[in-house]
Amino acid sequence: MKKPELGFIGAGTVGTALAVKLSEKGYKVVAVSSRRGSSQTTPTSAQKLAAALPNCQVASNNQDVANSAEFVFITTPDDVIPQVAAEVKWHSGQSVVHCSGADSLDILNLAKESQAVVGAFHPLQTFANVTYAIKNIPGSTFALEGESSILETLKEMAEALEGHWIVLHPGDKVLYHASAVIISNYLVTLMKLATDLWKEFGNTTAEEATQALLPLLKGTISNIDNIGLPNCLTGPIARGDLGTIKKHIQALEEKSPTLVSIYRELGLRTIPLALSKGKISEEDAEELKNLFLGERDENDVKR
Ligand SMILES: NC(=O)c1ccc[n+]([C@@H]2O[C@H](COP(=O)([O-])OP(=O)(O)OC[C@H]3O[C@@H](n4cnc5c(N)ncnc54)[C@H](OP(=O)(O)O)[C@@H]3O)[C@@H](O)[C@H]2O)c1
Repeated sequence: MKKPELGFIGAGTVGTALAVKLSEKGYKVVAVSSRRGSSQTTPTSAQKLAAALPNCQVASNNQDVANSAEFVFITTPDDVIPQVAAEVKWHSGQSVVHCSGADSLDILNLAKESQAVVGAFHPLQTFANVTYAIKNIPGSTFALEGESSILETLKEMAEALEGHWIVLHPGDKVLYHASAVIISNYLVTLMKLATDLWKEFGNTTAEEATQALLPLLKGTISNIDNIGLPNCLTGPIARGDLGTIKKHIQALEEKSPTLVSIYRELGLRTIPLALSKGKISEEDAEELKNLFLGERDENDVKR
């Protein structure tokens, strides 16, 4: 299939990473725009992106991107996407795609009313900055939405980026994105909670605690990857070590009581994994459940 000429409205982390990688894979990126457009003094995000691409113009406004490119990515913050879709005059048959993880195609309704073909292309990856975004794209999964005519092009792009793709149906997006938040953002939160506990013992800085816990985290991720659920589960719940768990809860109640509720909730959610792994009996599972629930009920009564 002939590769379409691309335009990017929004030249932040995702816009830049996708434009650079797609350009490396033979897609022509002909125009980019950003909120700050262009500047004589400090280069704007659109100017920086255009400078990194061959023969790409910095458009003075979003309309110029739509006039120059047959296939336009809107890579602005999510809240801005409907506004851009409404402001720009799209032409019939033009492709308009957003990269939001939480929003579906309805935020492009105004582009669709102008007979544009709309789609979504969400990289299931964390893009904290451009360097790591570019590095992390290969191997990522892209969640696609759209009519069959645009889906084929989006699948080709995902494959060109050395990624995998899945096609989502209307209504799937919010739960899909909640899953991404749980595994990516809340993992960061768990790291913060775990390192905060190190303030209660030893003389380590937060950085030292992070460095000490990171190999454990990486080992766990490697086990998930290589061994899979549920057999990658280790620790006191997998072994049915009730005494250890009682000690944890007691110590947390004394030193870090705000962590007790999340400890017992995640503990409860871990019991079915331990059971499926087959290292604990139904009786062990019941005792573990009572331990986690018992502590919760007591605390709830105290509140
Ligand atoms: N970051 C992630 O981890 C991640 C992962 C997957 C998907 N996404 C999705 O990717 C999209 C972009 O996110 P991001 O993290 O790349 O955002 P970002 O780094 O904040 O970049 C947003 C870009 O949009 C531009 N912009 C803002 N308002 C504009 C307007 N009215 N017209 C034209 N350009 C405008 C900004 O211009 P200035 O530079 O001039 O401010 C900036 O270049 C979002 O839909 C997000 O949900 C993000």
